[in-house]
Amino acid sequence: MQTFRSDLIEGLSASPKSLSPKWFYDAEGSRLFEQITRLEEYYPTRQETALLRQTIPFWLDLIGPEAVLVELGSGASEKTRILLDAIAGLAAYVPLDISETALQAAASALRADYPHLDIRPVPGDFETLPDLPDDLPSGRRIGFFPGSTIGNLDRDAAIKLLAASRRMLGRNSLFILGVDLIKDRETLEAAYDDAQGVTSAFNMNLLHRANRELGTDFDTNSFRHRAIWNEAEARIEMHLESLRDQTIKLDGHRFRFRAGETLHTENSRKFDRERVVALAEAGGWSLVEMRVSTSPYVALALLRPKE
Ligand SMILES: C[S@@+](CC[C@H](N)C(=O)[O-])C[C@H]1O[C@@H](n2cnc3c(N)ncnc32)[C@H](O)[C@@H]1O
Repeated sequence: MQTFRSDLIEGLSASPKSLSPKWFYDAEGSRLFEQITRLEEYYPTRQETALLRQTIPFWLDLIGPEAVLVELGSGASEKTRILLDAIAGLAAYVPLDISETALQAAASALRADYPHLDIRPVPGDFETLPDLPDDLPSGRRIGFFPGSTIGNLDRDAAIKLLAASRRMLGRNSLFILGVDLIKDRETLEAAYDDAQGVTSAFNMNLLHRANRELGTDFDTNSFRHRAIWNEAEARIEMHLESLRDQTIKLDGHRFRFRAGETLHTENSRKFDRERVVALAEAGGWSLVEMRVSTSPYVALALLRPKE
């Protein structure tokens, strides 16, 4: 099984050095992410929330009564409230997240505000989707994957996740996918490198987390946060750049960083309509409708299983 330790050893041994963004989300990482969502520069949450409010009423007929909402990477389940308020007669809500603290906190807050809703948190990794609970109500499954979290996966992993979701949710399901759209470098880089330094703290938390949990000896003052728009790959890259030559110890291993060398910690791929359709089709879904927000642009795609 992949653990933070085994992934970090593998990632620091690779060239170039890299690590999966899923390890950002310990309790502190989830807290910092929530702070990011409230930043002026971080338009995706604001735009997607407004777009969800506008769009969901148009999709209610397709969703129908007694649906079961299954959310991947649910975090604080804040946007979910828009769906919970709009979908009458929802039979159950299944949030799935790798961060148990975020998942349990979100479930308790929702239970207080929606006392009649059947809420079934599932801790887990969406890259190896667990089964849904056996005793879920039998209504139509509605997958919900907002926040452009799909953009953190490379193309193969995103296709694998969509195909696994298609199997997990069944023939009669729908899938609501939130994606961030390709736009100018300035807007994109500011969203991932805010003036207050919250995104920097979020990125750096990986090193603090490794020191806390794995006993590494990262000197966090000798790394800096970088966010770079890679236009050719249509993705924002986040890196931690070493400011000097240094060696990191982890168990019996020693990993050398040269000054200027980076640990690549996240890709956030950006999309256009063509890319969304191609990805959905490759994962076994077809596009029913895609709705786009006002500028800065994000989109919500409604998918149904391919015939
Ligand atoms: C970009 S945040 C989005 C949070 C929320 N859905 C939103 O739209 O604001 C990504 C979320 O996915 C979770 N996550 C990241 N990688 C994951 C994985 N491999 N499996 C399950 N959850 C994951 C994180 O804990 C976090 O809550």
